[in-house]
Amino acid sequence: MRNYSTLKRVLVTGGAGFLGSHLCERLVDEGCDVLCVDNFYTGTKANILSLLDHPHFELMRHDITFPLYVEVDEIYNLACPASPIHYQFDPVQTTKTSVHGSINMLGLAKRVKAKILQASTSEVYGDPEVHPQTEDYWGKVNPIGIRACYDEGKRCAETLFFDYHRQHNLKIKVARIFNTYGSNMHPNDGRVVSNFIVQALKGKPITIYGDGRQTRSFCYVSDLVDGLIRLMGTPDEFTGPVNLGNPDEFTMLELAETIKVITGSKSELIFKPLPEDDPVQRQPDISLAHAELGWYPKIPLKDGLVNTISYFENLFKIR
Ligand SMILES: NC(=O)c1ccc[n+]([C@@H]2O[C@H](COP(=O)([O-])OP(=O)(O)OC[C@H]3O[C@@H](n4cnc5c(N)ncnc54)[C@H](O)[C@@H]3O)[C@@H](O)[C@H]2O)c1
Repeated sequence: MRNYSTLKRVLVTGGAGFLGSHLCERLVDEGCDVLCVDNFYTGTKANILSLLDHPHFELMRHDITFPLYVEVDEIYNLACPASPIHYQFDPVQTTKTSVHGSINMLGLAKRVKAKILQASTSEVYGDPEVHPQTEDYWGKVNPIGIRACYDEGKRCAETLFFDYHRQHNLKIKVARIFNTYGSNMHPNDGRVVSNFIVQALKGKPITIYGDGRQTRSFCYVSDLVDGLIRLMGTPDEFTGPVNLGNPDEFTMLELAETIKVITGSKSELIFKPLPEDDPVQRQPDISLAHAELGWYPKIPLKDGLVNTISYFENLFKIR
């Protein structure tokens, strides 16, 4: 028998990270009892500072590659370093976090009959041959390259989710998240939006890899969190995978120029060779998310960048 509280008990793994901290905040705001589990590999307490004293928020330092025994109704499995700098630092641990971590969280969901959502990634599509990517595209991933610990780890996690669903009737949801940006991003994680903003704010040269014509689509964090919560709320028959991202495409050059204009930075643009296995183009087809979740991103890139830049300005106490 469950306790007397009528609040929905929600576990967020990786809750002290960029996306996780925003998700925890939103869930607490919605009246959930939130348990944030994090090993602080890339996340920080600073990201969830405003929640620490909240009566419906609890923080647990724990590595999900080890089993966890808690009583919850829903699990958002976000734990995993997400930027190449961080996930390539200890690639074996990265794969373990996706694979062992998923096994542990799926085992927990099975034991307590919780619904569980996996934060998967557009990286499961690898360097795609179809454009934009729909969920039925199987991807083109190098299984032995330096990005494989992340890409293949996430692919295997998806496999585990679907096997637990088929074999044990687990209620699963799989979100394939495309590039997302916003406050609480790690300033040194090498992701393109944070890189460009930090370089522009510090007046350093803005580093563009390749010729800058490769495109990416960027989703603002509040839109993404809204998508995750909507996905969790879908009927049990709907498992995904479902793409969540902003289909508006921008070249790296356009992104750099927009950031320069907003920050008023005089930084010059410098060009470096493309990293190994870096996809040339990536853009989500979000028709499924629109049809099943009624979801589409609302925040235009410029507005999201203004908020994100102001976060980094405060972080560096530039003004
Ligand atoms: N941000 C994006 O653009 C993006 C895109 C696609 C997928 N995702 C996925 O969303 C999730 C969150 O990404 P993010 O951008 O917030 O990254 P992040 O690095 O900011 O957050 C990941 C969090 O997981 C924690 N963590 C890592 N390994 C752990 C472990 N073994 N046990 C417990 N905690 C652990 C980290 O300390 C951190 O707080 C990740 O699973 C990532 O793969 C993010």
